[in-house]
Amino acid sequence: MRSPRAFFRPLAVGAPVPNVDIPFKPSRMIHFFDPSNEKMAAKVPDIAKKVDILLGNLEDAVKTDKKEAARQGLVDIAKANDFGDTQLWTRVNSLDSPWVLDDLITLVSEIGDKLDVIMVPKVEGPQDIHYVDRLLAQLEARAGLERQILVHAILETAEGVANVEEIAAASPRMQGISLGPADLAASRRMKTARVGGGHPGYLVRQDPTGDDLTEGRAIYQQDLWHYTIARMVDACAMNGILPFYGPFGDIKDVVACEDQFRNAFLLGCVGAWSLHPVQIDIAKKVFSPSPEDVAHAKRVVEAMGDGSGAVMIDGKMEDDASCKQNIVMLDLAKALAE
Ligand code: GLV
Ligand code: MG
Repeated sequence: MRSPRAFFRPLAVGAPVPNVDIPFKPSRMIHFFDPSNEKMAAKVPDIAKKVDILLGNLEDAVKTDKKEAARQGLVDIAKANDFGDTQLWTRVNSLDSPWVLDDLITLVSEIGDKLDVIMVPKVEGPQDIHYVDRLLAQLEARAGLERQILVHAILETAEGVANVEEIAAASPRMQGISLGPADLAASRRMKTARVGGGHPGYLVRQDPTGDDLTEGRAIYQQDLWHYTIARMVDACAMNGILPFYGPFGDIKDVVACEDQFRNAFLLGCVGAWSLHPVQIDIAKKVFSPSPEDVAHAKRVVEAMGDGSGAVMIDGKMEDDASCKQNIVMLDLAKALAE
């Protein structure tokens, strides 16, 4: 897999926009499946054609007595299929679990040539990444692998959030970070009881206009994850790696799922997890710049010429900085079209 780092290159003033070469792989959705579930595993070859990233999950949501079956199921699926341009990832068990050592040894030895990224849950600090990094180096050498397997961390403990900058910088293997809202909520002792998304009780209410406190006051639900996503995005951008929103557990609520994904996209995330086929198309739509956004970005960048100075477009002032934002949009559109 090509490194995402070059995607986050500095935006030089006057950089030649239309012809930039962006080494980046589409990563709009990380689609989770349980390799121990035979019905789900049978659908994998078809699902793989629709997603950017396919992830065989070995951690939470796989029952304790199915851990070995899930690991072996992923080995069998990877050996039996060629997924072409679709990336193959796994989420191994957490580093304090009795399964993770066998997960890493088995997967790298058996299917290391097919695995692009290993997602490590509950990462608390750079020491967790260093451990995985060293172990992977040994296992890759033993297996005679010619390329490095990359590492993706899930940010899902209070300690992990406190150390997110060090985690992002911990190794050249770092591919990206996902927000894990469910475990993070538990770790922080938040009072939510769901897998990602909002909560109807977390809101702001307009001030009363008179003495009546009950009527006519607009209520806006707030994004519970704004602070963590923004912090994670900064840590990732600073280190040239990719930020992702994690799971949205209310599969039926496609509207709120799209809103949550879009908030993450607007804040800088490149993708989100899909837990059900219905979320694949939501992620594809949200994390791909719209034709309108691309057309507008082209207008601004063309009008800005060498990228310096200021122009008026539709009554709005555009300058070097807004030109750079539009370059980000064009870069992404170009990368996804390749
Ligand atoms: C994901 O693993 C989460 O805990 O939200
Ligand atoms: Mg979790």
